[in-house]
Parts: sequence; structure tokens; C-alpha cells
Amino acid sequence: MATLRVPRQQPGRRPAVARPASARRFGPAGPDVDAAARQVTGEVFGRDRDGRRAYPSAGGLYAVRGHLVQSHAGAVLACAGDEQPTVGVIDAGAVREHAFAQVTGEPNWVVLTGRQPHYQERYGLRGYRYLLLEAGHLAQCLLDAAARAGLRALPVGAFDDEGLAETLGLRGADQLPLYLIALGR
Ligand SMILES: Cc1cc2nc3c(=O)[nH]c(=O)nc-3n(C[C@H](O)[C@H](O)[C@H](O)COP(=O)(O)O)c2cc1C
Repeated sequence: MATLRVPRQQPGRRPAVARPASARRFGPAGPDVDAAARQVTGEVFGRDRDGRRAYPSAGGLYAVRGHLVQSHAGAVLACAGDEQPTVGVIDAGAVREHAFAQVTGEPNWVVLTGRQPHYQERYGLRGYRYLLLEAGHLAQCLLDAAARAGLRALPVGAFDDEGLAETLGLRGADQLPLYLIALGR
């Protein structure tokens, strides 16, 4: 009879975890931070040469949207790959307040939003779950891309849904704020 060898955990010999710690203190706004954040969202929301995206989506619906709040420019950009048109004017400090001032400084913010009915029409009650899972995949890609771009980051799940939707002009647009990612130095 063959003996199955089970590899043993060896304390101290585990490969180092490369993920940077979550950051809650950021520096002041600046054009360099805005540019690095645009690079991050452009990379994650864009497609590669084969037309593939950085993250998966149930049924290929790809209905989670990203809104990049640029703290220096005071603008909201729609995250749509290489093209990131300005869709609004904003005081990024308002987003920080809607996130209950959990961070200091002036990071950029990526606000992920989704339209629940989109997923529910196809997947029934599981649709909401799929929407959140997709947002999670996307957020992880943003965190990884941020680290590569030299930005520190914080994923934020605790925020004022209605206040944020109002500030972003999402009221009546059927878009539900799902997740916030602060990006800065
Ligand atoms: C779904 C989710 C929601 C989170 N929401 C918040 C939040 O609202 N405020 C916050 O300060 N950190 C938030 N975090 C970050 C965690 O607190 C953080 O990842 C955890 O403390 C571990 O620290 P580390 O990321 O430095 O390893 C959230 C993380 C996840 C995955």
C-alpha cells in the first residue's frame, strides 16, 4: 500500500504574505495621487489585447460600475477602461464624511455600485449574492493594482448608503453603492 505523505506546516517557512496592510491615514490630495488612481482604475476596468477583463462576472453580466472620486481635481470619473470621462464635480471630503470619517487625509475613492435587478432577472434571489461577489473580485483587483502603483488602500464597507448615493448623483439611477476603496499615499 502506498503511503501518502502529508506536507507539514513549518512555522517561519511560509512564504511571506505580500499584501500590504490596510491604510487609514493618507496624505494630502495631489495631481500625482489622482494620476496614479486613474492608472489603477484604467487597468482594472479595462480589457487586455484579447478583450478580456481583469475579474470574472457571473454570466458575463459585468454590471458593477466604478466611480473614481479624484480628491485633487474635485471630479467624479466613470471607470470605463481607457476612457474615464468626467461625470461630475465633487468635494471628495464629502465621501470621507459618508464613510464616517474612518480615514484621515485626502485619498481618492473608488465607489463600486450595482443594479440589483440586473442580476435578479437572471438568477433570482442568488442574483444579489452574485452582484456582491463580483464587487469583491473587482475590489481585490483594485487593491492589487494599487499596491503595484505604489498606492496604499483601504476597502470600506461601512458607509452611509443614501448620503453617498446623493453626493454621487445616483438617486433614482437604481444604482446601489456596494463598496468603497480609498486610494492614496
Ligand atoms: C468587506 C470588508 C469591509 C471592510 N470595511 C471596513 C471599514 O468600513 N472600515 C475600515 O476601517 N476597514 C474596513 N475593512 C478593512 C478591514 O478592517 C481590514 O482588512 C482588517 O482589519 C485586516 O487588516 P489588514 O487589511 O491590514 O490585514 C473592510 C474589509 C473588508 C473585507
